[in-house]
Amino acid sequence: MAAYQIEQHFYDVVVVGAGGAGLRATLGMAEQGLKTACVTKVFPTRSHTVAAQGGIAASLSNMGPDHWQWHMYDTVKGSDWLGDTDAMEYLAREAPKAVYELEHYGVPFSRTEDGRIYQRPFGGHTTEFGEGPPVQRTCAAADRTGHAMLHTLYGQSLKQKAQFYIEYFAIDLLMTEDGQCQGVLAWKLDDGTLHQFNAKMVVLATGGYGRAYFSATSAHTCTGDGNGMIARAGLPLQDMEFVQFHPTGIYGAGCLITEGARGEGGYLTNSEGERFMERYAPTYKDLASRDVVSRCMPIEIREGRGVGPNKDHIHLHLNHLPKEALNLRLPGISESAKIFAGVDVTKEPIPVLPTVHYNMGGIPTNYWGEVLNADGENPTRTAPGLMAVGEAACASVHGANRLGSNSLIDLVVFGRAAAIRAGQIVDADSAVPVAPKAAVDAAVARFDKTRHAGGAVPTAELRLEMQKTMQQDAAVFRTQKTLAEGCKKMAEVAAKLDDIQVTDRSLIWNTDLMETLELQNLMPNALTTIVSAEARKESRGAHAHEDFPERDDKTWRKHTLAFVSGNRVQLDYRPVVTDPLTSLEAGGIDPKKIAPKARVY
Ligand code: FUM
Repeated sequence: MAAYQIEQHFYDVVVVGAGGAGLRATLGMAEQGLKTACVTKVFPTRSHTVAAQGGIAASLSNMGPDHWQWHMYDTVKGSDWLGDTDAMEYLAREAPKAVYELEHYGVPFSRTEDGRIYQRPFGGHTTEFGEGPPVQRTCAAADRTGHAMLHTLYGQSLKQKAQFYIEYFAIDLLMTEDGQCQGVLAWKLDDGTLHQFNAKMVVLATGGYGRAYFSATSAHTCTGDGNGMIARAGLPLQDMEFVQFHPTGIYGAGCLITEGARGEGGYLTNSEGERFMERYAPTYKDLASRDVVSRCMPIEIREGRGVGPNKDHIHLHLNHLPKEALNLRLPGISESAKIFAGVDVTKEPIPVLPTVHYNMGGIPTNYWGEVLNADGENPTRTAPGLMAVGEAACASVHGANRLGSNSLIDLVVFGRAAAIRAGQIVDADSAVPVAPKAAVDAAVARFDKTRHAGGAVPTAELRLEMQKTMQQDAAVFRTQKTLAEGCKKMAEVAAKLDDIQVTDRSLIWNTDLMETLELQNLMPNALTTIVSAEARKESRGAHAHEDFPERDDKTWRKHTLAFVSGNRVQLDYRPVVTDPLTSLEAGGIDPKKIAPKARVY
């Protein structure tokens, strides 16, 4: 093995990832007086949160009556009763506070006539515990909300003297033999040096793994790096079978057209010009929950009512909306439609198709962001020194399906919660322990082995095979046959990692090596997704199993835990948290309101 010089760093907290959750955690940690570093493979304001368009959910009541309990109810129902009730209460209760903090940090939200934060309707967000009309709960900065948040949070983090390590690729967690995390090893992409970040607390904020699929709204950087590190550390991934398809990815290109487009009055039609959502979701129509709309579209296509020469997509209409409204509220997607579909939204409909958008599953945590080293016997055991936030994590507030605009609020509520918790449990006055040499050696050895991999399978080829398998066999609709075939194929695909070919041996800006390390991270994500899906014999949220079309609460209201070893996955389960944080007497939600029932919109 080549000899590597390793530069040492010592911090109270190291956050890996600089999207919305990573930056909010970094800022919060620094505000708590903790010496904080943020290690990120892309420049912070290029993190994938920059692509978040429609907005951030919080019951501010700026546009009409709203209540945190209605938000909680919608989130519980959206999750198809798989979310953890304590975490969902925490999210809905803390959301207004977290948004006002963003406002005070400087996020340039769109405004109402009287100067308050503008809020728009989004799918699945309602009033009166699902009995009233849609609510305007999604706070927006036009259709560039994530962009606005990232710039503000990055600036505030710098102001608080958080240290940024930009374009550093995290290789592996540095764990003690008894399961405590004491740091992370990273590779500096522009000069090839290795860096050992020793820390009392590591926070994984590495985002989702949309790129395990062929067509995704996610950036090419969304390779589930934190999840990969967790799997290699022998810790479980939770609820990986639940992959969200966004109803309106641009046909062919996959770029996101925000749900805010339907929130502002847009609607979907089939080849007969019919607003077909009225048939499937008579009350909320195009603003039904995302998983519901994403299933209705392929049904229309399958039944021969798709649009276009191949009748293989659906139309989204905005052309009836006033030009001024489109300019003011949806300028970004008007531009995307022009660039990626050649469509002038003021005149023509946009061709759209459900596209992989979000991972409900990820690294299991409690609602403080502490990573769970859980199994069936120890469902709430934590992994000391380790936190996870944002899309990488599974708190679990989204359960089997996330509501639109609950992602951005998840990022800031739980980024903030992790900082509050770290302020309680990290001793800023103690010395930072040096991470164990055995863990460092193992991480360096894996890096070196990958760098010198001389197999027969090029990375791009294997990645494509994985993506096509996932797209075909773990799609919107799943059957026992496709899932079983998919498991077999994915095991074969994953086994080919042992025969991977890296042709560039250099250390400086070696994209061949970086993409291979990313593929090594994507693979356990893909494997656990398909194996967890094959095992779940019911339909719930985004997991639409055609052979088991009903939700089965008696057997399956439980979280899947997936452990990876090579190309094999072992499953276990842990119970869903069904108790709210606050009792009814103390002002909490009435448990009867959130009891499981049929999910209709
Ligand atoms: O449609 C959108 O703007 C996406 C929002 C989200 O995923 O929360």
